[in-house]
Amino acid sequence: MKGLTEAQEKRIQELLNEMTLEEKIGQMNLKSMSIVGGFDVPFEELIEMMADGRITAEEFGRLMSTAEQDYHEDDIRAGKVGALMVDDPVKGNELQKIAVEETRLGIPLLFGLDVIHGYRTVFPIAIAEAGSFEPALFEKTASMAARESRSRGINWHFAPMIDVARDARWGRVSEGPGEDPYLVSTFARHKIRGLQNDHSAPDSYIAACLKHYVAYGACESGRDYNTTGMARSLLHNAYLPPFQAAVEEGAMSAMASFNDLNGIPCTVNSFTLREMLKETFGLEGFVVSDANGIKECVNHGIAEDEADAGVQAAKAGLDMDMGTDIYSKYLAEKVESGEVSMEVIDEAVKRILGVKMWLGLFDRPYVTEEAMSRYEVLPQEHLDIALEAGKKSIVLLKNENDILPLKKDTKVSLVGTLAGSKDEVVGAWSISWRKDDCVSILDGMENAGANFEYYPCGGPEGDLNEEEIEKAIAGGDVIVAVVGELVSMSGEASSRADITLPGRQKELLTKLLASGKPVVAVFMNGRPLALEWENENLPVLVEAWHLGVQMGNAVASVLYGDTNPSGRLASTFPKVTGQCPIYYNHPNTGRPGSKSKFTSRYLDAGFEPLYPFGYGLSYTTYEYSNMQVEETDTQVIASVDVENTGKAAGDETVQLYMRDVTASIVRPVKELKGFAKVTLNPGEKKTVAISLDKANMGFFDDDRNYRLESGKFQIFLGANSRDCQMTEMNIQF
Ligand code: NOJ
Repeated sequence: MKGLTEAQEKRIQELLNEMTLEEKIGQMNLKSMSIVGGFDVPFEELIEMMADGRITAEEFGRLMSTAEQDYHEDDIRAGKVGALMVDDPVKGNELQKIAVEETRLGIPLLFGLDVIHGYRTVFPIAIAEAGSFEPALFEKTASMAARESRSRGINWHFAPMIDVARDARWGRVSEGPGEDPYLVSTFARHKIRGLQNDHSAPDSYIAACLKHYVAYGACESGRDYNTTGMARSLLHNAYLPPFQAAVEEGAMSAMASFNDLNGIPCTVNSFTLREMLKETFGLEGFVVSDANGIKECVNHGIAEDEADAGVQAAKAGLDMDMGTDIYSKYLAEKVESGEVSMEVIDEAVKRILGVKMWLGLFDRPYVTEEAMSRYEVLPQEHLDIALEAGKKSIVLLKNENDILPLKKDTKVSLVGTLAGSKDEVVGAWSISWRKDDCVSILDGMENAGANFEYYPCGGPEGDLNEEEIEKAIAGGDVIVAVVGELVSMSGEASSRADITLPGRQKELLTKLLASGKPVVAVFMNGRPLALEWENENLPVLVEAWHLGVQMGNAVASVLYGDTNPSGRLASTFPKVTGQCPIYYNHPNTGRPGSKSKFTSRYLDAGFEPLYPFGYGLSYTTYEYSNMQVEETDTQVIASVDVENTGKAAGDETVQLYMRDVTASIVRPVKELKGFAKVTLNPGEKKTVAISLDKANMGFFDDDRNYRLESGKFQIFLGANSRDCQMTEMNIQF
């Protein structure tokens, strides 16, 4: 394994030689702490319950500190546990001590957790952060999350989530970096660097776990856990590339997804696990199932019983069982009966021990007291990056009559229960956050010294307060209405069949608009929403997502113009839910959508989205001119002049797309192939050049042959996937 010395490899081999079959299978078992005593659920389910709103964060915290918990000490002592989910360094040290001092071979435990967009310092959700189009930022936020969590004993993150996701109904679009394979792959590479590559201190890195492998984001009808089916060429061209990129970057583990892919659940899919992930991409670490994944193969209807599911999973290359104990219960007898070979077991254990060795757990299994309290108070540097990430993730969708930025002395009525909530800034996958660290929009307005009054009026759930609405209308000269989704409306098990504003929020906006005063809508949500009505009726729309602990400060900074918004959409926004899945890089049809009837369109929604991928406005304007394309033996270099024609300095993200006009299989109408972010002062003009390696202009066919087919190509440069300049050229490979 890369990163291990010869001596370490030797030590792993010696351990393998010494281990009994039971001890080996123990390493393949990930257990979560269970809460017992009238509330018998495993830890990961409890986390899911918090994420989907069945229990509040407070209840979760109370249960953690008061309920009787089963940490499986006896199983650890018996060498039956290789990894645990425990978010408590003191308890973690105690359990680690049992593993290290009381088991025969003293192999340390891995401690895994869902640290998706920050640990203590919660950063923007991935779909928002990806919209910053800033790889260095992806790396920084990941590195901070790694340091914070490792200081509390978490050495393995179930992250990054790098599912290409093209259906906004799917609640988990919030967790990943959007719809585009190139952007998701860029995000994946930089997240791995941030999480894994800083070895300047023994506890400055963790092992990443790529998820959900694979094509989980293509779940039919956007319904979570649903079946997926697709041509192999699409799998190779769109869904696998982020995983390949992350493995090339050295990712240490991956998680098999819940879904079946073309009829084979990914938990037992030897094509995706063995052939692609391990043999083709070269994953050196291990693969874990998703929670309960092995058992669910019985429900899928491809395994007779748990034991059969366990045999199929192990043979397919699934190295670790999350949460079912199926490997513990059945694998030994299956090895003895010859159904599972010892090589399969040895391979899995070698990979798992390799990751533990790479993490340095054999030398330093425990967390020091100093480390445990290191991030008790969030460091200013982490807060600064959270603020920067928040600001850069905000997308200005519409700004009629330059209503924004607001002046500090403008009298504002701040409306919406979401605006006053610290709980709703964190996003769907936050576990270890503290309310006191969170800055709501209300707090942010106060911190900015804004001239405003707050009227909650109503939110995603519940009734409207008519009295407060009247006061809000009478009070301010401008109304800032914060509307959107509760955190529990996105994330796992949170698909929605209607992605318009939930509850009575449209009614609230209608009442506010009736005042005749300018209404600025600020959206807090975890997925693209269908905002056709809002776009038609409101003068200003700001997409603010769930931005983490610094959300309020970031939003206020944009509203008052201290920050010129530069965020872009990493995901297409439909006009109406019925357009989903809708994404910019779709294949062309024989009758491409147009205004005429017999083309690929909806009678009631046309063929275009509301906002395209890559879209986002600014407080200034940019003009693109003079596009040039140059060809060398190995590259296409496209350049364009970009001028800041407005009055504010700003950051513009120039995007390079290509289209293979004629190919042996139908290709997307556009594919992102590069981007560059430039800062421009008013009146300033810069030439931005982006190069594209010719080697990356091809595609995979169904048999995974990479095809570079000479012929006509279109090269696009522009501010988003719709508004581009184009040059056509012939390329010979
Ligand atoms: C199920 C989720 O699908 C996965 O993302 C998560 O890592 C595990 N539960 C563990 O919490």
